[in-house]
Amino acid sequence: MSEKLYIFDTTLRDGEQVPGCQLNTLEKIEVAKALEELGVDIIEAGFPVSSPGDFNSVMEISKAVSEPVICGLTRAVEKDIEVAADSLKYAKRKRIHTGIGTSEFHIKYKFNSTQEKIIERAAAAVKYARKFVEDVEFYAEDAGRTDNEYLARVIEAVVAAGATTINIPDTTGYTLPEEYGAKIRYLKENVKGIDKAILSTHCHNDLGMATANSIMGVLNGARQVEVTINGIGERAGNTSLEEVVMAFRSRQHLNIDTGINTKHISKTSRLVSSLMNMPVQPNKAIVGRNAFAHSSGIHQDGVLKNRENYEIINPEDVGIFESTISLTARSGRAALKHRLKIMGYDFEGEELDALYQQFLDIADKKKDVNEEDLQILVGRKKVKDKQDIKLHSLQIICGKSTVPVATVGLDFNGDVFYNTSEGNGPIDAAFKAVKNLTHKNFKLEEFLVQAITRGTDDTGKVHVQLESQGRIYYGFSGNTDISTAAVEALVDGINKIV
Ligand code: KIV
Ligand code: ZN
Repeated sequence: MSEKLYIFDTTLRDGEQVPGCQLNTLEKIEVAKALEELGVDIIEAGFPVSSPGDFNSVMEISKAVSEPVICGLTRAVEKDIEVAADSLKYAKRKRIHTGIGTSEFHIKYKFNSTQEKIIERAAAAVKYARKFVEDVEFYAEDAGRTDNEYLARVIEAVVAAGATTINIPDTTGYTLPEEYGAKIRYLKENVKGIDKAILSTHCHNDLGMATANSIMGVLNGARQVEVTINGIGERAGNTSLEEVVMAFRSRQHLNIDTGINTKHISKTSRLVSSLMNMPVQPNKAIVGRNAFAHSSGIHQDGVLKNRENYEIINPEDVGIFESTISLTARSGRAALKHRLKIMGYDFEGEELDALYQQFLDIADKKKDVNEEDLQILVGRKKVKDKQDIKLHSLQIICGKSTVPVATVGLDFNGDVFYNTSEGNGPIDAAFKAVKNLTHKNFKLEEFLVQAITRGTDDTGKVHVQLESQGRIYYGFSGNTDISTAAVEALVDGINKIV
């Protein structure tokens, strides 16, 4: 039987503190609703006393969201607690999160106080918060660098004062997994009354240990994790929700259930990233663009034979339904065949070999070959098979202070003829050469060039519209070389006239 791990999301509080990530109230409501859909247990919606905007956001989120507990952060200050309670008045289920620094650094240099006075302030804040709400969480800021014996005394006092959840933040991201796990175990074993409260992890990622520390915390008795979407947060960020959730989901034998609807992870990640203007690094675990992308031929072949050869998580479990096989110059025939099959084309044997050679031509020029490129490739193959006139070669000289000259070679059912022409630009010169070779009488009505996506290495699409003896003929091609695409499109149109 699995044990419940509560997911406390602080994307809208610790995450939103990051410079440049600030959201307005409507955007915060959108994120809060996405978190509710994801199934988080607690949403830390803000720090109400910090600004009227934060106060308003906590209040509006309390109205808009009904399933998760809504939480407001405070310092161990009465005014903060009163304002937080007021901002939470519409919440169906509410929590006040109050606390104070407990490390030597904080006691001496932040509060100029003593250990005993800090315990008194901590207990008094919890008692005061309990006047407004039943659910009070206490944080011992910088607990990661707080001596365990003293920390246990603080926690004992706040549990006795009525705290129902105890947060042990590794505020500076300093601890190592073993150390953090041992801290949680120490508190579990040495604090009187700790069974009345839930221990919570709150880890920062300064040494890249946030997820490992949180997991060690849970394995040693914590039953709540404080996390953010995409791991956003102060400095190197907080523990990322998706990493902890998927770690426990993929290691079922640990018997920890987060209750998260994992299929919503990918879209929630994208929403947070775009609203907060915070791109996700491509190799970020679970939600990075490359997290499930296989690019080497050996891995692609292995995954196609059996997904589990190289995947520990089914991408569909986190809401990724696109193919995870990236088509690059390192892909083999199996990967190309697989993607074409998804697109509805069945190529085998020599046909597949020929297409694969053309695919490699594109892949050598582009980093990633996408479905639009393949569509063009398949379309071009089908068209080329039917064409009487084919573009055999094209050479263009052009540039500033140079008269553009194009030499075009056209293949007429196996016989190749060449023509060299000048023009007012490279395309004009090439089109004149084609016209001289085909002796066709037509008027170019329209010439349209489009890049498929972005980037200088992308495939360009060219559409032409030709008029001949009162009829309209269309030509089309796509190529990373835009001049070749233009001449191929023209030849395609002329073939139709022929
Ligand atoms: O990192 C931290 O210590 C915090 C507390 C305010 C909970 O974010
Ligand atoms: Zn924090």
